[in-house]
Amino acid sequence: MSETTIFRGPLMRFAGDPFEIGAEAALIYDEDSALAVENGLIAAVGPAETIIAAYPGAGVSSAGGLIAPGFVDCHMHYPQTAVIASYGTQLLDWLNTYTFPEEARFGDPDYAAKAARIYFDQQLMNGTTTACSFCTIHPASVDAYFAEAARRGVRALGGKVMMDRNAPENLRDTPQSGYDDSKALAEKWHGKGRAQYAVTPRFAPTSSPEQLEAAGTLWAEFPDCVMQTHLSENHAEIAWVGELFPDCPDYLGVYEKFGLLGRGALFGHGIHLTQREIDRLAETGAGIAHCPTSNQFLGSGECDVAGLRARNVPLGLATDVGGGTSFSMFRTMKAAYEVAQRRGVSLSPVHLWWLATEGAAKALGIGGKVGNLAPGLEADAVVLNLRSTPLITHRMERARSISEVLFAQIVLADDRAVMQTICGGKTVYCREA
Ligand code: GUN
Ligand code: ZN
Repeated sequence: MSETTIFRGPLMRFAGDPFEIGAEAALIYDEDSALAVENGLIAAVGPAETIIAAYPGAGVSSAGGLIAPGFVDCHMHYPQTAVIASYGTQLLDWLNTYTFPEEARFGDPDYAAKAARIYFDQQLMNGTTTACSFCTIHPASVDAYFAEAARRGVRALGGKVMMDRNAPENLRDTPQSGYDDSKALAEKWHGKGRAQYAVTPRFAPTSSPEQLEAAGTLWAEFPDCVMQTHLSENHAEIAWVGELFPDCPDYLGVYEKFGLLGRGALFGHGIHLTQREIDRLAETGAGIAHCPTSNQFLGSGECDVAGLRARNVPLGLATDVGGGTSFSMFRTMKAAYEVAQRRGVSLSPVHLWWLATEGAAKALGIGGKVGNLAPGLEADAVVLNLRSTPLITHRMERARSISEVLFAQIVLADDRAVMQTICGGKTVYCREA
């Protein structure tokens, strides 16, 4: 018989999508809950006494903090970890000045392996249990990423960047090599353990029409893979796409032309969308990865989160490191709040937290696996110290509801609040006392 492990403590989870049923109905919070885990999956969750009685003989450990769904970061670039916080540019200059030179290093498997280790240390200390990463054009960067994720028991999505033009010579593949390498990597990694391959053309300006077509062919061959790229992040970028693809109606129309629009497509940013583009996202079920710290840092603009969700466009929060400035989903939720405020919308803490967990998982098409604490899902969770700094401790004295507690954490907390990160029922990170 399989062993059951029980984590006991205050616990939060979601009863549904707050954008559909409202914040109050969407949050389930219980002061004394238990999470029963068997074979890496959640067997049961509910009031502690009921769960403990249902599993006599199970080992029960006191969590010592708030048990919450592990965070999900649905768009980031692990190879950009070393150039996070690079000064003074907007998207296109930032790519040329900082990003491409760093990505060029990933042809060296040792460099890639070390970078992957550093990245996963950051991810897990921030309580992020699943991320979807762009790698670089080098297959070695993908191998390093998935190998490190497997070593740690973490669900991970990612793929080889396809890029055959408008990039330095040493960072270009070709339509054929990009396709061949990506296919070999998908065959090697997709569905192996907790790895999921993502078809990853970088963005329209760095792929020829032939390469975008090859990416469309590849996605058709691996339809249960995520297809990730970038969309409408920056005005100069959008104008450039218009020059490069004059026969397409708009930026999204480029991806649509090459078979890269549909359910399972996840577009980073989606800030300056036309009505037609929003309609096409809504009609096809493609999603947006909202990257608010990146959008603020690179001066890109403000995504219309409420408007997109009102059209039922799948949307999740993402760090977009290294354009994004933090691995912390607390910082990311805070930035999402501030970005929405600039558009006159005050997202509730429940909406923000959902976007950083179940919303991001659903945008990646893995809402049935991770993103919430519910029976049958993988046991990916985080244990949070709600008094991780003197200021937060002081602020907690005035918090009158769980909603106020969560909001103050969103604004004030960071990795110091993450006591424990649990992936597949195993503790993969524990903060030193
Ligand atoms: N657009 C194309 N590549 C990138 C990237 O690496 N980061 C961001 N933020 N936008 C991009
Ligand atoms: Zn990105």
